[in-house]
Amino acid sequence: MSPRITVVGTGYVGTTHAATLAELGFRVLGLDIDEDRVAALSAGRVPFVEPGLDELVARHVATGALRFTTSYREAAAFGDVHFLCVPTPEAADGRAELKPLVGAVEELAPLLTRPVLLVGKSTVPVGTAADLAKRLTDLTGHPGVELAWNPEFLREGTAVADSLRPDRLVFGVSSPAATAALREVYRVQLAAGVPAVVTDPATAELVKLSANTFLATKISFINAVSEVCEAVGADVGAVAAALGHDPRIGGAHLRPGLGFGGGCLPKDLRSFRAQAVDFGLTDTATLLGVVDLINNRARQRLVDLVRAECGGELRGRRVAALGAAFKPDSDDVRDSPALAAAVALHREGAVVTVHDPAAGPTARRAEPRLRHADTVVDACRDADVVVHLTEWRDYGELDPAALAEVVRGRVLVDARTTLDPAPWQEAGWRLRALGRPGPEQREGES
Ligand code: UGA
Repeated sequence: MSPRITVVGTGYVGTTHAATLAELGFRVLGLDIDEDRVAALSAGRVPFVEPGLDELVARHVATGALRFTTSYREAAAFGDVHFLCVPTPEAADGRAELKPLVGAVEELAPLLTRPVLLVGKSTVPVGTAADLAKRLTDLTGHPGVELAWNPEFLREGTAVADSLRPDRLVFGVSSPAATAALREVYRVQLAAGVPAVVTDPATAELVKLSANTFLATKISFINAVSEVCEAVGADVGAVAAALGHDPRIGGAHLRPGLGFGGGCLPKDLRSFRAQAVDFGLTDTATLLGVVDLINNRARQRLVDLVRAECGGELRGRRVAALGAAFKPDSDDVRDSPALAAAVALHREGAVVTVHDPAAGPTARRAEPRLRHADTVVDACRDADVVVHLTEWRDYGELDPAALAEVVRGRVLVDARTTLDPAPWQEAGWRLRALGRPGPEQREGES
């Protein structure tokens, strides 16, 4: 018989994991302490934007394969495998906040009365699984309860596809029984040829931190190159494209621009750095610190560029900010470079109006001091500068000639360097981007 699965924590990772396991034929119970969230999910509604997830949740809630609860007792009675997908946000000191995760284990453990497997999915500092395993042994009602670590690599915006067909699976286990249980849960993915790395829990924890930190480093590297491009008048877009053709480098996560944000890369980088400091690995800590520094500087470089386009003074200038989400196909504004740049422009006295195709409500809640518009035209009305901050497909389909009619200045700063310059230039716009020569430099060359 297929194992029955509980998923503790119904954020991006937990809800996606629960829904895709239901899609693969398992009976799944999602648990969250947030009653509103559980009520929404139980009604088949996902309380955040993630393409395809709504439909999956609604379908499997309707069949009864997927249910949600706030009761640890119900979860303990139901599950053979309990996935822990509790958030580990950044604490004030840059470390991962583990209290919610520890709390979840402390709630669940005493209620477990048969041999079951707990599987951590949350991103945690190395050694967390070992500490939790000890806590579990102290608290559990059954000696056959075990803990494994199985990091999650899904990305927001493509979470469902990533979960159904991951690049790889990592099983951090302490026994063959745990490996067998995980092989059963992931039998469809394994049968489809997804590679599995079977290792110990500490190594599995480190794989996840290394993966996110490497991605962050790759993005900061190309943004460091972007800074050099500005100094020498070269074009970072062409550099990134050429580098990406080298299969040893690869073009993925090599897009220059505003840098990385969201609920994962920044906090995992800082958590990993804090751990490097703890271990006295000062060079590693320096490397990771510089990755963070270059990333944050991209936001400031954008402000500098917009200020320069406004003749050196932002006070009273009207800026249309296109995009607030940390990436397209998401309404997540956690540590969003787009929203941070909009706030930085506002702090310098610019009148900033933000538009986002999906993150309007979350952006309004996060930054009520900014102006918010429901349409691109409203955001751009009388703008001195339009700044493209999140590379939504919708923005690639804008009509530059129509927008030219509503703005005060035809200046477009493309912070993501993804818009096709030709139609904008034809409609009389002046285009600027980080790491790319401006029109004056280009004219000087010809
Ligand atoms: C990231 C990882 O990519 C996932 O593998 C991981 O599972 C997830 O964190 C997590 O730990 O939960 P995610 O935060 O959804 O996923 O987003 P990414 O696609 O990695 O993008 C992160 C940020 O980097 C975004 O702000 C994006 O705009 C930026 N980015 C991405 C760039 O600036 N350049 C790029 O080339 C790629």
